[in-house]
Parts: sequence; structure tokens; C-alpha cells
Amino acid sequence: MNASAPSADSLRAALAGLLDGLPPHRAAQAVERLIATYRGTTPTDAPVLRDRSDVAAYAAYRMPATFEAVRGALDALREAAPDWAPRTHTDVGGGTGAASWAVAGAWEEEPPRTTVLDWAEPALALGRELADGVLDAEWRRERIGSALDLADTDLVTVSYVLKELTGADRAALVTEAARAARAVVIVEPGTPDGYERIIAARTLLIDAGFTVAAPCPHSGACPIVPGADWCHFSARVSRSSLHRKVKGGSLAYEDEKYAYVAAVRFPVTPATSRITRRPQTRKGLVLLELCGPDGLARETVTKRHGPLYKQARDAEWGDSWPPEGRDRD
Ligand SMILES: C[S@@+](CC[C@H](N)C(=O)[O-])C[C@H]1O[C@@H](n2cnc3c(N)ncnc32)[C@H](O)[C@@H]1O
Repeated sequence: MNASAPSADSLRAALAGLLDGLPPHRAAQAVERLIATYRGTTPTDAPVLRDRSDVAAYAAYRMPATFEAVRGALDALREAAPDWAPRTHTDVGGGTGAASWAVAGAWEEEPPRTTVLDWAEPALALGRELADGVLDAEWRRERIGSALDLADTDLVTVSYVLKELTGADRAALVTEAARAARAVVIVEPGTPDGYERIIAARTLLIDAGFTVAAPCPHSGACPIVPGADWCHFSARVSRSSLHRKVKGGSLAYEDEKYAYVAAVRFPVTPATSRITRRPQTRKGLVLLELCGPDGLARETVTKRHGPLYKQARDAEWGDSWPPEGRDRD
């Protein structure tokens, strides 16, 4: 029984023993096969995570990164809706449960009761094992498709799943999530195509009556010209020894790029603007690239701006801006 709180560290500790007994080259091979599969043409018509070694490799290699990406999205949602907390949560395509760990960590004082749905039984089995004593979760086999019928829930998370679905299943899932939930958080890789899937999901959620809580400052059209750029963010993740084995190099961390949308059916206070690139710091000034109420903008904050300059120096990619500039209603 693992009685630790759900955090990046306790997840890492739970993952640490996972590859014991699996020869290192087998783990590295399994990761390489998964990476090749995920780079290839998806969706597939059967689970990619086929057996225990696939799932162990996936979990050890990817869970810390997807955990951090989902935490980034949830932290932005919490900032926009500080008084809201989900009592129930459904993690669709939840796999080994990274997003469920992130949800339990984000509302750690009173984590919601979670239901993890996935079609890969080995992933559910491992997720259940890792989360034993940490998450209040039920792990259930379920295929995502037009027949998906979600029970009503406060929060639905869909983390790194849309890419694995056909266009029709993607739309069916987002529409069903919008019907069943009060808040929906969708996370995808921070690539141009990941961003496009997020924008398509965002449109469906708005059409269903949702308000965008984050990252956007509004629920209007995205100001990015299609094909010209893509909205994405970055989360720092400590690298495990398996990472170093597969990817080589000795860096102690890597940056996980992700795109997301968090949308809700209740009043929220989105950021006035969001920082959409790593801030550039020069002598005596900070350059910020922002998405704001009037679209994309650049702001230069200098020493002359007083306390705002200090805040700009501390500001990070993905933060809301200005830090205390929220129009509370
Ligand atoms: C890349 S993994 C992401 C897992 C987890 N959400 C995370 O963030 O770590 C994609 C998950 O979606 C599941 N999945 C893909 N297509 C599915 C389908 N049609 N029905 C149910 N689950 C599906 C896979 O089995 C896998 O667990």
C-alpha cells in the first residue's frame, strides 16, 4: 500500500520499481517501438499498449512528462476558477493514470473521486497498481467511439488521446465530454497538429455552451493565422535514467511541449493576457509575447515600469499577464 500524496515525486517513486526485472535493453526496445508507433500513422484499431512491458516502458518514459503537462493546464484552470473544485472526475483514455495523478495533486486537499477509462487492459492494470493507496480511482475498460456514454461528472480530462482517434471519434468524444461534464481539460503534444486538434476541440466546446478558462483570455476566435504558428507551452520534467538510456545525453531535465484547452460551464476569470513564448530578458528590459483581448501583442517592460519590471523578470512562458491584472467579476 502506497500512502503518499499525489505529486511528481511520489509518481516518480511509484515508477522507480517498475522496470526492475526488465532487462534495460528490453525497456529501451519497448520505448523505441512505442515512439515509432506514436510517430507513425495513428489511429490504430487495437490498443498500442499491448502487454506489461509496453505499459511499463510507456509509464516510466512518458508519465512524468504528461503529468507535468496536465498539471500546467490544471494550474491555469485553477487560477481562472480558484473557488471551484471537482468532486468527480473522469479520465478518458486515461491509460496508466498520469492525468488522474495530476488532478489529485491539483486539488490535493480534497481530491475528486476518479474514473479512468481506457481500452488497454494492461495499462489499466498497471495504473491501478501504481495508484494503490494514492488515488481514489476506479479503472474501467471502455472503448472511445460514437457509442461512448459518459456518466455525468464535474471534470473530464483527455490527455494525449485525441491523436489516437479518428476525426469522427475525436468529435464524438469532445461532444460527449461537453454533455457530461462541467469542466473539460484537453491536452495534446505541443506540435502544430496537436494545436490544430486543440483548436477543433475548443470550437466544439464553445459551440456546446462552454467558456474557455485557459489558456485563452477569451472565448472568441484564436488570433493565430492557421499554418503560421501554433499556441503551445512548456513544462520542465526531470529525466529518469531510462530517458537518458533511450535519448542519450546527460541533461538532468527536458522540456515537455504541450497544447491545451480548459473550458467550463460556470463563471470564470480568464487571464487578461497570456505569455505565449519564453520571455526574452535583456539589460534593463523584458520582452513579452502575449495573447490578449485584442489578439497577439508584444510588450516591452523596462525598469521605468517599477514593480511590474520585477514581475516581468519573474514571469514565465504560459503565465497570465499582468500577474494581478485580472478583471474579477
Ligand atoms: C498516449 S496514451 C495517453 C495516456 C494518458 N492519458 C496519459 O496522459 O499518460 C493514449 C491512451 O489512449 C488510449 N486509447 C487510444 N484509443 C482509444 C480508444 N479508441 N478507446 C479507448 N482508449 C483509447 C490508449 O490505450 C492509451 O492509454
